[in-house]
Amino acid sequence: MDKSIKQILISTTQIKQRVKQLGIQLSADYKDKNLVIICVLKGAIVFLADLLRALSIPVELDFVRLSSYGKSAESSGVVQIIQNITSDIQHKDVLIVEDIVDTGTTLSSLKEALLSQKPSSLKTCALLNKPARRVKSITIEYVGFEIPNCFVVGYGLDYNEKYRNLPYIAVSDIDF
Ligand code: IMP
Ligand code: MG
Repeated sequence: MDKSIKQILISTTQIKQRVKQLGIQLSADYKDKNLVIICVLKGAIVFLADLLRALSIPVELDFVRLSSYGKSAESSGVVQIIQNITSDIQHKDVLIVEDIVDTGTTLSSLKEALLSQKPSSLKTCALLNKPARRVKSITIEYVGFEIPNCFVVGYGLDYNEKYRNLPYIAVSDIDF
């Protein structure tokens, strides 16, 4: 293990099981709906790729990229859309797929931006929820795992663009 990885928090097996459950739940909840998944780049791509294959219903895909922490582990509080979706989401059932919700700043700005395009419904599926640092009160309809207040990497999540390839979620020992 890399020396800046302290411990494995969520194993590959645990992730697989939970993603499968989420896939079953989402397939039931969005049966007969016009589901459009909007994946938040870059962190959510690994989760998205597995979650998609756990769905048994038709789904459209789009991507959005937001300004993030940059090279720091601290959110700036200002969120900008760097790359927008290209699909028309009006009258569609939109599900945001996000890697982690921390302060909630990113998700609440994204929700606001998407709601202005008048989808029929707008919900969120986040792999991880870190409620300890929440600043904006937001509803997350589907959560993979609740985690304590620590900085995590792996399964798409990075620190300085590293560790996204780890097949598990690990606690990093960076200053946070
Ligand atoms: P928020 O706006 O504070 O909720 O931050 C959300 C974004 O910050 C996520 O989409 C991640 O990209 C990043 N982030 C928050 N916590 C962590 C973490 O523990 N590890 C890696 N990225 C994180
Ligand atoms: Mg993210």
